[in-house]
Amino acid sequence: MKSWTSFSLILTFCGFLIQSALAEEKVSFSDSELALIRSHGPWPVPTNPDPSNRFSGSEEAIRWGEQLFNDTRLSGEGNLSCASCHQQELSFSDGLTRSTGTTKVDRNTIALANLRLNRWFGWAGRSDTLWAQSIHPLLDSREMNATAHIIADRVINYEDLKANYQALIGINPLSESPENLMVNIAKILAAFQETIQTPPSKFDQLRRAVTDGASIETNQAIVRGLKLFVGRGKCSLCHFGPNFTNGEFHDIGLPYFLDNGEVDTGRYGGIELLRKSPYNRAGAYSDEPIQSAENNPSYFMRLQHRNWGEFRVPSLRNVSKTAPYMHNGTLKTLEDVVHHYSTVDIERLHADGETILQPLNLTDQEVEDLVAFLETL
Ligand code: HEC
Ligand code: HEC
Repeated sequence: MKSWTSFSLILTFCGFLIQSALAEEKVSFSDSELALIRSHGPWPVPTNPDPSNRFSGSEEAIRWGEQLFNDTRLSGEGNLSCASCHQQELSFSDGLTRSTGTTKVDRNTIALANLRLNRWFGWAGRSDTLWAQSIHPLLDSREMNATAHIIADRVINYEDLKANYQALIGINPLSESPENLMVNIAKILAAFQETIQTPPSKFDQLRRAVTDGASIETNQAIVRGLKLFVGRGKCSLCHFGPNFTNGEFHDIGLPYFLDNGEVDTGRYGGIELLRKSPYNRAGAYSDEPIQSAENNPSYFMRLQHRNWGEFRVPSLRNVSKTAPYMHNGTLKTLEDVVHHYSTVDIERLHADGETILQPLNLTDQEVEDLVAFLETL
């Protein structure tokens, strides 16, 4: 009996040795995995000014835009600014499940960064420009609860705002229509937001090390996590390229009920709002000189049943700093996110569902590895 116990103890011990040896074994990548890893860089991605916004890239606009971003006078009650929800010390998000303006809103605050790389804005892509996306919180009664008239009044009646407006735009705000004035303020806010960028990360070093053989101090958990990300996890298919997003919309099987039992229609509602909006890129407020079908992204959009419950694939750059996660903020940590993908219920994905997603059934070690990798981004 005694000898059996020690025998099995020895066996367990050997098992442990083998396991930890395996765990420390150097990870190797296939050619297609290496190609995917390469495609997640280089970083930063060079960008051009936004042709739909004539203030894009202007130093003066950027400076005033930053002040306006922090200015509570743009809200109806004079108590909220963009920075109330997009707080710089929290990577321009707010750390809340769902943000609160005059009252609680339906979705999680998106951390603002690298916005020139976006094709669509908001979780449902309701805007096709950054300046149009900047108008919505001004007007939304649950967010800043202002109107074009309120904003025009404030700019006309506060000397500093009036002087800045006159200096930058060259027009006395008194002779502007409130709509024009509000759009100009939104474009100046956009000029500032375009400058918010995430610096190269630990991942960018790792990428060079793996693809060019440069040496790097890193633990194998991170490298195993990277292999899961581009390999069996298939994360790269949607979290694609240097900004870790394909910029499009998918359903990953999260609940989409709101508090009142209504459904958040996601991309479906986003397309409807975008088409109705007077501020879309095809509209009269865009500074783009040519209004042809080719440079109007919404022209090619078709409203499809599959758009119900789809949300935009978020960038994963800086993701360890922007908890909680998902459009409704329901996943608190990166472990929770990885568990979601590990156990995803494919029955929940709607009819024309996602063929990419399958439960990954990850071991505890693999969950840790994938989280360690996400933390390098
Ligand atoms: C009450 C909180 C709140 C305030 C105030 C607020 N935002 Fe937001 N912001 C959000 C939420 C929530 C989202 C996600 C909205 C959605 O997709 O439905 C968001 C999304 C955005 C996005 C989209 C980012 C992306 O990657 O698509 C931009 C840009 C933005 N806000 C800019 C602004 C600006 C500019 C202001 C001030 C004029 C502002 N926000 C004020 C909560 C807020
Ligand atoms: C089918 C496309 C798709 C695949 C594959 C995919 N994702 Fe996602 N991911 C999304 C979408 C869409 C969202 C946002 C969903 C929502 O909010 O409703 C998301 C959200 C996330 C978030 C939250 C980010 C935030 O800021 O809230 C993380 C982290 C994430 N995914 C990591 C991963 C990892 C790791 C994998 C691989 C195991 C993966 N994703 C595979 C589409 C995908």
